[in-house]
Amino acid sequence: MNTHATRRFVIAAGLIAFSQAASAEPFAKGDFAIGKSMVEKQCIACHAERFGGDGSAIYTRENRMVKTSRGLLAQIRNCNTMLDLKWFEDEELHVANYLNKTYYKFDQ
Ligand code: HEC
Repeated sequence: MNTHATRRFVIAAGLIAFSQAASAEPFAKGDFAIGKSMVEKQCIACHAERFGGDGSAIYTRENRMVKTSRGLLAQIRNCNTMLDLKWFEDEELHVANYLNKTYYKFDQ
């Protein structure tokens, strides 16, 4: 890499790091509305059956499993695999964005 390219890369990386820190949003690339409709279609019925109501108690219960944004993404991946939904990574991010903004509220 020549010096110019290196410098440009460093600046770009800095901007990305800055914008992530400033937005305080771990799943900024995900789309809230898409994630919401994905969860409504694929996930809520089973949670509601087991936890009652609209199923959201699973995310807000006192001893919930997910403790970090990384853990949230990992759990979404587990469900994705277990249910054989074949979601792509960007789709997992939509769901993560929705669940985080609505229930978990991790800011990093
Ligand atoms: C067949 C039933 C079923 C389906 C479908 C299902 N889940 Fe779950 N999910 C569960 C159960 C049961 C648990 C709780 C496991 C436990 O407490 O050990 C759980 C837990 C979770 C948690 C962790 C909650 C916590 O404690 O913080 C997340 C996040 C989650 N599911 C996301 C999803 C997503 C996203 C989908 C849709 C792709 C989905 N689930 C579909 C049964 C299901």
